[in-house]
Formats: sequence, C-alpha cells, structure tokens
Amino acid sequence: MSAPESARKRHAELCRQIDHHNYLYYVLARPEISDAEYDRLFDELRELERKHPELAAPESPTQRVGARPIEKFEKVTRRVPMLSLDKVTSEQELRDWLSLMEREAGEAVRGPFTVEPKIDGDSVELVYEKGVFTRAATRGDGRVGENVTHTVRTIRGIPMRLRGESPEMLEVRGEIYMRIKDFAELNRRLAERGEKTFMNPRNATSGSIRQLDPKIAADRPLRFMAHGGGAIKGRAFKRHSEALAFMRELGLPIVDRLDVVKDVDGILKYYKCMLEMRERLDFEIDGVVAKVDDLALRETLGARSRSPRWAVAYKFPAREEVTQVVAVAWSVGRTGKLTPTAALKPVVVGGVTVSAATLDNLDQIRLLDVHVGDWMVVKRAGDVIPDVVTVLQDRRTGREEAIEPPARCPACHGKVVKPEGEVNLYCARPLWECAGQLKEYIQFFCSRAAMDIEGFGEEWVKVLVDRGLVKTPVDLYRLKKETLQTLERMGDRLAEKMREAVERSRDTTLQRFILALGIRHVGQATAGALEDHFQTIERLMDASLEDLRQVQDVGPTVAQSIHDYFRDAANRRVVRDLLAEVRIKKPEVKGAALAGQVVVFTGGLTSMTREDAKKLVVEHGGRTADGIGRGVTLVVAGPGAGGKLDKARERGIRVIDQGEFLKIVGSAPGHS
Ligand code: IVH
Repeated sequence: MSAPESARKRHAELCRQIDHHNYLYYVLARPEISDAEYDRLFDELRELERKHPELAAPESPTQRVGARPIEKFEKVTRRVPMLSLDKVTSEQELRDWLSLMEREAGEAVRGPFTVEPKIDGDSVELVYEKGVFTRAATRGDGRVGENVTHTVRTIRGIPMRLRGESPEMLEVRGEIYMRIKDFAELNRRLAERGEKTFMNPRNATSGSIRQLDPKIAADRPLRFMAHGGGAIKGRAFKRHSEALAFMRELGLPIVDRLDVVKDVDGILKYYKCMLEMRERLDFEIDGVVAKVDDLALRETLGARSRSPRWAVAYKFPAREEVTQVVAVAWSVGRTGKLTPTAALKPVVVGGVTVSAATLDNLDQIRLLDVHVGDWMVVKRAGDVIPDVVTVLQDRRTGREEAIEPPARCPACHGKVVKPEGEVNLYCARPLWECAGQLKEYIQFFCSRAAMDIEGFGEEWVKVLVDRGLVKTPVDLYRLKKETLQTLERMGDRLAEKMREAVERSRDTTLQRFILALGIRHVGQATAGALEDHFQTIERLMDASLEDLRQVQDVGPTVAQSIHDYFRDAANRRVVRDLLAEVRIKKPEVKGAALAGQVVVFTGGLTSMTREDAKKLVVEHGGRTADGIGRGVTLVVAGPGAGGKLDKARERGIRVIDQGEFLKIVGSAPGHS
C-alpha cells in the first residue's frame, strides 16, 4: 500500500525541516528553534513513518540508527592516504620547520597559511557520492582504515545529503569529537548506570565510533568538524581555505576558529591566542595546525612517507602529568568548610610547576581512593591548581597510607563537625573565634565584588589577623597609618596606599555591603535582589523568614541562612559597627531600560571594561550576575565566549552582543 500524497508531502517537508535545523545548529551554531520544538518535529516524523513504513527511506533522519549491529569492521583501502602531521613544540622548531620546507622547495615559502586548532578527537574520512553520504572510515594506518559508516551516520551534525551543488564525489576529512560538557554528562550517566566511565573526551569518542552496535553510538554526544579533503571529483580549488568554505556551504561543519595568516609571526600569534583561549573552548585541543593554503604549492612541496611537508602541528604543553602524593593538608574557608589539598612532588604541567592538587572533600578522596604515597595523574584546566584525574593503582607498593579526616580545625583547633546530609566537614567555631576562617573572610570582604579594598591580599591579611590588629572587618576602618607602619616590610607609601583604599571603600552600595557580609549562599545576584527588595539594610536586618521568601529567587535554604545570620548577636554588632563607618548610597539611576533584568557578561568587551559595563547595567535599573544561574534574563556575549554562552542558549536566555547592549543603555561605544 502506498502512502497518500498528503502524508508523502508532509514527510518530505519534515525531513527538509529537520535537516535544515541540524544545519543551523551544528554548522552555523545559530539554532532557530528550541530543543523541545526540534523533538516535536522528530516525533511527528517518527509517527508518520510508523503509519506508513514505506516512507522511511535510508536518508530519513529517523533512519540514522541502522537496524542491526554489524558483525565485524570491514577494511577500507583509500586512494589518497590520510597522513599524519609533523610536530613542533617551540618557536624555534616552528621557524626550523619553515626553513626546511623552503630548502626542500628551493624557494621562499611566504604563506598565506591557514591556522586551525588541533582537535583532540578521532580522525575519519567521509565519502559523499552525488551529494549523498555513502561511507565513513577511520584513519587506521593511513592507507587502510576501518569502515565505521554505521556509527558515523548516527552523528546528527553530519549531513546525510549535501546542500546545493555538490560535486560528483567528495572525500571529507576531519575529527569526530565530544564537547567537554557533553563528555562530563555522558560519564555521569554511565556512572549512574554502574558502567565504566571514560578517561577523557578523546577516549570516549574513539570508544563510541568503534562500536559494532550503532545504537550505542547514537546515544553518545558525538560531533564532527571537517579540516580537509581527500579525493574530489567534479570540482577544483586553488586554496585549502576555499575548499573548506565550500564544504561549509555544502552543509558540513568545518573546523571552528579557522584563520588565515600571512607569515610565521601570524602563526605564532594564533598559537598564543589559542593557548590562552584553550580553557574557554568547549572542546579539547592539543595544539594548532598550520598549513600552506596554496594547493599548487602543496603539490610542489609533496610529502614524506608519513607526513606532508606543507603542514605542521605546533603542540601545546601537555596538561596531564604523573606525580606522587607526599601529604594531605586541610585548610579552612570563610564559611568554616574544611578542604583537603594533596601536596605533590613538584611536576611541570602545561608549562607551570605544580606542587598541590585540590581534593574536594572526604567523599572525593574515597571515590578516587587516594592515599598518601600514591602515584596519580593530575590535570591542569584553567587554574594553576590541578585536578586529580585518576590514581595509578598498579604503582602501589603497599606502603601507602589512608587519608584520615582531621579531628580538629587546622587553624583554631576547635571541634570539627559534619552536618547531617552534607559531604563537607566544618570547623564548629564561629567565624570571629577562628583565625583561619577570619583570614579568609577578611580577604573576601576586601575583594573586588564586595568592598573592593585593594592591597589586602592573603599575606597582609594574615599578618593583620595574627597580630590581633583585625578581629572583625570593622577594624579595617580603624587601622591607623602608624599602626600599619609598624609591620615588617611595610613601607611608608604602601601603608598610605592601603589607608586610602580603605577610605575609598567607605562610599559603597547596598549590594556590595550585603555581599561583603559573607552570608552563606548570598552571592552577587542574591545581594542585588535583596537590595532591590528591601532598599535599606535596616529592613533587611529585621526581615522575617516570610519577608525573605518574597524576594525573587530566594529559596528556603537561602532565606534561612540570611535569617540565621541576622539573628546572631555578634553578627548584628558587626553590621551596626560597620554601618557607622560606611556610607551606603543609592545607585545613580539614568534610565530604566534594564529594569527587572539580570545581566551576565561573557567573553571579551572591546570598548569598555567589564566594571564599567556592570555599572551601566545598574544605572539603567538592572542587576548583574557572574554565572548563568536562576533569574538571569540577558547575556551579553563577546569574542571568546564559551561555556556560559552555550548554557544561556540551552536555556533559551536572550543573547546580545556589545553593540546591542550599548544601544539599549543608549550609549555610543567608547563613552560610558
Ligand atoms: S590536517 C596531512 N588539521 O591530527 C594533514 N589534522 O597528528 C592531516 N587533527 O590524524 C591532518 N586537528 O586527526 C589536520 N585541524 C586539523 C586537525 C588535525 C586534529 C589530527 C588528525 C591527524 C592528526 C595528525
């Protein structure tokens, strides 16, 4: 029985729409519909095919998961081998690479060069015949790879049919990879089901493509980026960058953050920029790749046995290293929380010597099964302090020692408690009685987002607290220059500067003041909401639990925490004394264009500083927050924006750029 014309038409329309939205999402990264709307289209298509099975042709988006698992991987022999890349690890080696290339070419090689991230994924080649996806194979030994068509066709970002004028035959080469956050989510799901987790996104990717059963691969968040071509019939190019642009037009995702530079200095600049950007990218890269852009010149240069002469990988320093745990130390934070830190045998990771790694809490110590004396893999991501990836059980000698929770607070020797339902240990003493907590709190009080008192970093705060000169933040306002000058290594100028910084902080806003109190669970955004709601500190201090619950985005835990804070007599005294020292002014209001909005800035701003931009938000009736938490309504994204931008898009939060932001607040770039 054949399907009625109307069903056939609707089917074709749904296939077209789904392909189109895949393209918008994976290639242009500009989705026009929400995930839920996408799912509705997909469900409708599936339902239609259930009623009319003859419509479910192999190109239908529902048919990406082929029915049955394959028995074994077939070998694929390719005409143009997939080569590897030569590696360099320093500027000198990069320059040497260029000189060698010039010697071999017998002429100066001036570029331009295309520069691309070196994606830490798994390389594959896709084959399209007359615009239809027909095969995918792994690199293998370069010439012979494995046929992985069945798993690769489940990857939604890979079009089954190319758009527009596709060539007779096209071989596309690139990397299959997993986004860092998708990888974390996958591992979480696997752990929840009691299955084995993966070490890193690359292993997870390889493991997923090399599955006999495509259903498993379909369930893994795989993505693809093209970075080159193999054989192409029916189309010729002069430049590599041109070929990639063409692939993008055909609907293929091409390598992100591709650029074209004219010489070695350009390559170096790109390398530095990507090295700096590395932490903010949502996929892992292990270096950059520079390639001669001119395809005729590539022909002249040719290849060695395993690698072409016209390309080079400039690798980043490794971020994972193996080292040994020497000891574990506990430190106390401003809320009394005790955090363990592993002291490590010093090791260079990602170009920085590290000698400590954070272990979140006892649960994590047990989960990772860390002992003193253990060898482990540490990884630096962003911060100088690395994370522990895994403990190398094989290297155990039997002399390792278990890590015991501390019986007493490491700073004040007070009792240690573990509140019901909490994974963390706490010092049982109040802030004012534990020098460890106090030091951390005073630094927080002085921090940029709070009272913004410059110069009161870890070292000076330690001295001031140890000498008994600062027992509460009120003492900061009563410090005399002469007292500061009695401190060792404190010069006249520095003492003066610190005094001035304290003086400047006397004029403040209610939001800063509330934040500076360091109430548990009260961050910048909540402090702003409290300011909006109560308008004066007195009203906040006397608010009942019910009053607090009325504040937008304040839940029961936060309300309780604020309430408890102000019911404590010692806290109230400090607040009263502080109020005698500072002047809380209402923010200057210039407009209400952002009234009710909570704004997050992410990525770079080009025509103003972040502080100025935040000030503009407040002046126009809005509030700012640092993360994409509850209540955020607007995200201003600039160059280099990464995780926060993705999160905002996922949640359907409005995203604008700096230009639009300035229009809203009625300010031309360069003026604030
Ligand atoms: S070009 C002959 N571009 O790195 C040139 N490769 O060590 C072949 N890779 O097997 C590759 N990102 O899987 C190229 N932007 C990029 C790349 C890239 C990652 C991988 C590729 C290759 C390996 C070479």
